[in-house]
Amino acid sequence: MVRRRTLFFLSFIVLVAAIARKHGNWPSRTSQCRTIPGDTSWPDSKAFDDFNKTVNGRLISTVPIASVCHQPDFDQAQCDALRNVWFFPETHLESSSSPMAYPFSNNSCNPFVGSDTACTLGGHVVYSVNATSVEHVQATIKFARKNNIRLVVRNTGHDYLGRSTGAYAIAIWTRHLKSLELISEYHGTSYDGPAIRVGAGIESQEAYAFAEQNGLMVVGGNCPTVALAGGYSQGGGHGPLSSRHGLAADQILEIEAVTANGRLVKATPTSNADLLWALSGGGGGTYAVVVSMTVKAFTNTHITMATFSLMNNGTNADAIYEVLGTFLQNLPALADAGAFVAWVAAPFGLLMSPAMGPGIHKEELDLLIKPTLDKMSDLKQEFSYSSTEYSSFLPGYDSLTSTWNVSDYNVAGRLIPRSLVEEDTPALVEVIRYISEQTISTGVTFNVNQSGPYNVSANPYWRKSLFGMVVGTPINYTDYSKTIAGQDLITNDLLPRIAEITPNGGAYLNEADFQQPDFQTLFFGENYKRLLAIKRRYDQDDLFWARTAVGSERWSEQSDGRLCRV
Ligand SMILES: Cc1cc2nc3c(=O)[nH]c(=O)nc-3n(C[C@H](O)[C@H](O)[C@H](O)COP(=O)(O)OP(=O)(O)OC[C@H]3O[C@@H](n4cnc5c(N)ncnc54)[C@H](O)[C@@H]3O)c2cc1C
Ligand SMILES: *[C@@H]1O[C@H](CO)[C@@H](O)[C@H](O)[C@H]1NC(C)=O
Ligand SMILES: *[C@@H]1O[C@H](CO)[C@@H](O)[C@H](O)[C@H]1NC(C)=O
Ligand SMILES: *[C@@H]1O[C@H](CO)[C@@H](O)[C@H](O)[C@H]1NC(C)=O
Ligand SMILES: *[C@@H]1O[C@H](CO)[C@@H](O)[C@H](O)[C@H]1NC(C)=O
Ligand SMILES: *[C@@H]1O[C@H](CO)[C@@H](O)[C@H](O)[C@H]1NC(C)=O
Ligand SMILES: *[C@@H]1O[C@H](CO)[C@@H](O)[C@H](O)[C@H]1NC(C)=O
Ligand SMILES: *[C@@H]1O[C@H](CO)[C@@H](O)[C@H](O)[C@H]1NC(C)=O
Ligand SMILES: *[C@@H]1O[C@H](CO)[C@@H](O)[C@H](O)[C@H]1NC(C)=O
Repeated sequence: MVRRRTLFFLSFIVLVAAIARKHGNWPSRTSQCRTIPGDTSWPDSKAFDDFNKTVNGRLISTVPIASVCHQPDFDQAQCDALRNVWFFPETHLESSSSPMAYPFSNNSCNPFVGSDTACTLGGHVVYSVNATSVEHVQATIKFARKNNIRLVVRNTGHDYLGRSTGAYAIAIWTRHLKSLELISEYHGTSYDGPAIRVGAGIESQEAYAFAEQNGLMVVGGNCPTVALAGGYSQGGGHGPLSSRHGLAADQILEIEAVTANGRLVKATPTSNADLLWALSGGGGGTYAVVVSMTVKAFTNTHITMATFSLMNNGTNADAIYEVLGTFLQNLPALADAGAFVAWVAAPFGLLMSPAMGPGIHKEELDLLIKPTLDKMSDLKQEFSYSSTEYSSFLPGYDSLTSTWNVSDYNVAGRLIPRSLVEEDTPALVEVIRYISEQTISTGVTFNVNQSGPYNVSANPYWRKSLFGMVVGTPINYTDYSKTIAGQDLITNDLLPRIAEITPNGGAYLNEADFQQPDFQTLFFGENYKRLLAIKRRYDQDDLFWARTAVGSERWSEQSDGRLCRV
């Protein structure tokens, strides 16, 4: 009797499993969680050695870069040298594992604390494959899949939401997939003209330089080092040319990618069109590993760069926020003229940092900014203003090169609709003031609704937005509880203030809150459902997982960092 019941029970399980497998979503027992070192299912060193051979010896075992600040690797000189450059992107770019958004290392190897504290892997990947060919990508996918190991795609490591790192994971490091090709006359279904094809690891500034040599320019980041074909364009992407030519995602003509089953595919408007659509704004690290991207290029033009600064001297705060109101009301005209305007509001004052006007002459840009300058004069404020015209894109862009610090702020943001600026500037000023009197807030202003209709998966909310607003709270390396408190301040107070005045709002998924509760709607808008269907089609088993990515709600990171199905 007992035995019969057991048999019945067993066959019931087998039946359920068979039905579920047919529907493709039944996790086998071992895949409830990804395997981690220490599990019996974690491959042994022989297996890793064999794997290493399949990637031509390019498997890197992670040593956190700050290990030189800790025993047993402690070296005072090396540690000091690292501390001096810690806040520069380049420090992390050259690493196969270091996330620029420090908290996603889980504070596991802190360069600014005593050498007697531990240095562990924490949130770093365990291994990276320094991929330089499609075969390396394919072999890594195969190994991770076969062994049920968490897989991460890492490129430059800029990601503010921690999507290019992961505890106990193997990374496919795409930074060294470097190639650049000019296509003087691209002929596509809806575009004829110049294009460039970039390998996945090409940085914005490398693409700018290549385009410039060929009399062209391309949409890329304001930041020089984000990977053009990486999370930047795949997540939407804004930059100096966005008010003339749109989002980076709008420029994508075709993509070569390795999908979760290890196949190299070409995604174009006529083949794997759904994948092309998803990779054009639907977020990085989710659908496939991009190995190359072909993007539109444009005839190079003159560009004018302008900056102003108005400092808070302790008595002029009211005047500054009055100026901010005028400045905000001025932004639609600037964006419509083709300018991309970055600004900062912080306890120290208000900066336009800078306005970039591709195709705009100096006199025109000065005139567009004049209302704000006049306001400062009317209010008897001391300010500085300068503007310079350059004959082509690259020298103008390069004139900016200030240092880009990273790893010093928790960062998150939301998109601000143009209607709010036009209809209720005071409400917006009040919220910005609330935030920028306690910490830093910034905005990048654009009009990316110039030449639609658009058929990309980037959040449709972009088209009605005037700027992306980003807030930051300091990362505190010596008192880490303050870092966490700063993240929570963003999630529980600063962003909700913006949400209140932007109901049914949107966020740029690359400059958003990793703790955002309703990220599906906020980051992807009405495209979420379709993106989820494409995710299922190309990656049934969720080989690619990243925090707040499409389909990510099916898994969660446990408190020890292990990734398990929900
Ligand atoms: C200092 C700084 C300045 C920035 N400036 C701008 C800006 O001007 N404009 C703007 O729009 N954004 C900007 N960003 C945000 C930037 O777009 C995102 O951080 C973006 O994720 C960077 O992409 P990445 O590939 O370079 O970085 P990574 O951190 O390496 O990757 C980001 C995401 O993309 C995925 N990914 C990377 N490569 C691939 C690939 N080959 N195939 C599939 N998935 C991949 C990763 O898995 C991850 O999910 C900035 C960020 C920082 C830190
Ligand atoms: C992979 O092989 C190369 C070349 O033999 C070696 O230098 C490297 O240390 C190996 N990586 C790992 C993780 O063992
Ligand atoms: C950027 O980092 C450098 C090096 O750590 C530091 O000296 C500098 O003050 C930082 N700049 C800003 C604006 O935070
Ligand atoms: C991250 O840090 C927390 C708190 O110190 C710890 O409990 C957790 O195990 C860490 N996770 C990893 C992957 O190191
Ligand atoms: C990764 O590969 C590139 C290209 O071969 C090489 O220049 C670089 O030094 C490698 N980086 C690491 C950390 O192995
Ligand atoms: C948008 O692109 C998708 C995928 O390529 C296609 O199925 C759809 O028909 C396109 N929609 C329009 C309006 O062109
Ligand atoms: C601050 O700046 C305002 C306007 O420029 C000026 O009137 C005021 O005297 C300044 N206050 C101090 C303390 O410098
Ligand atoms: C975008 O521009 C088109 C064409 O000019 C216009 O019809 C549409 O209303 C605009 N969309 C938004 C959201 O402003
Ligand atoms: C970090 O916290 C310490 C102790 O509370 C404080 O003294 C220090 O100023 C903080 N540093 C930053 C960068 O906020």
